[in-house]
Amino acid sequence: MTPSDSSPRPIIIDTDPGQDDAIAILAALASPELDVVGITAVAGNVPLALTLRNTRMLCELADLPETPVYSGCSRPMVRNLVTAEHVHGKTGLDGPELPEPTMAVQEQHAVDFIITSLLAAGPDGITLCPVGPLTNIAMAMVKQPAIVPHIREIVLMGGAYWEGGNITPTAEFNIYVDPHAAHVVFTSGVPIVAHSLDVTHRALMTKEWIAALADLGTPVGTACAEMVTFYERFDEEKYGTLGGPLHDPNVIAYLLDPTLYDGKDCAVEVEIASEKTMGQTSVDWWGVTKDEPNCRWIREVDAEGFYALLLDRLSRYK
Ligand code: BDR
Ligand code: CA
Repeated sequence: MTPSDSSPRPIIIDTDPGQDDAIAILAALASPELDVVGITAVAGNVPLALTLRNTRMLCELADLPETPVYSGCSRPMVRNLVTAEHVHGKTGLDGPELPEPTMAVQEQHAVDFIITSLLAAGPDGITLCPVGPLTNIAMAMVKQPAIVPHIREIVLMGGAYWEGGNITPTAEFNIYVDPHAAHVVFTSGVPIVAHSLDVTHRALMTKEWIAALADLGTPVGTACAEMVTFYERFDEEKYGTLGGPLHDPNVIAYLLDPTLYDGKDCAVEVEIASEKTMGQTSVDWWGVTKDEPNCRWIREVDAEGFYALLLDRLSRYK
């Protein structure tokens, strides 16, 4: 699918908030270039009940309680759920004190919402933005394969090649949690842009950027500063850096300004057989297999431009 005009680009954000998911959602909701047709929650960083709660909390923080939010899959397709409270805290969104959400959850299941909205989409289709395990997306593809040509593109956060893994020595969290779903997605034929650890680890937060968020003096600015301060402590300790990566907002920043990024079209496969390397993304960067590329693997980012763009979007909340 290719775009036919400059109207806002319809996207579905599939997410497991997560403080970095939170910044991605808030940046997207503040961007007139994007039409967030729905947000689908999936189990990942914390169990589904919490990712759903956190998604609604963030829509209310944005003062957009009418945003359609859907509840998705509560566990991976084959394996048991693995969560990441050690990174995100026990709620998944530790840091700020936010009120319990009261906004509605849509009745339709997230998988059915993904299917019906894609089948009803205009000629340009819908861009899917998964920033958690790929369970909802893969389940939609399995349940209704006719959606595939209606997906304009999948721009996702997941995977690792040059950088190594963050949940096992070789696997990145989102792909590791549901490798079978990732396999379905990477073999679907849909054009994929992957923001893996290879790029997200090249754009670390700075204390100045977090201070600028706090200085916005708005509920969103304050909550975001508190969220990322809690969130980055884990990676700072682990990697011995002065700031942590902010993975998921790269997906939104890429949609807003792809010139911030560079990468290469590669054949990417997901390991689903070996327990040792389960969920590893095998990236044929040098084209040794001659397999047809199925993914644009992003490896370069203008870190300053990325954080300036995010600050600009988050500063639009009053
Ligand atoms: C990914 O895993 C989650 O913990 C983050 O929200 C991000 O989507 C990074 O590996
Ligand atoms: Ca996430």
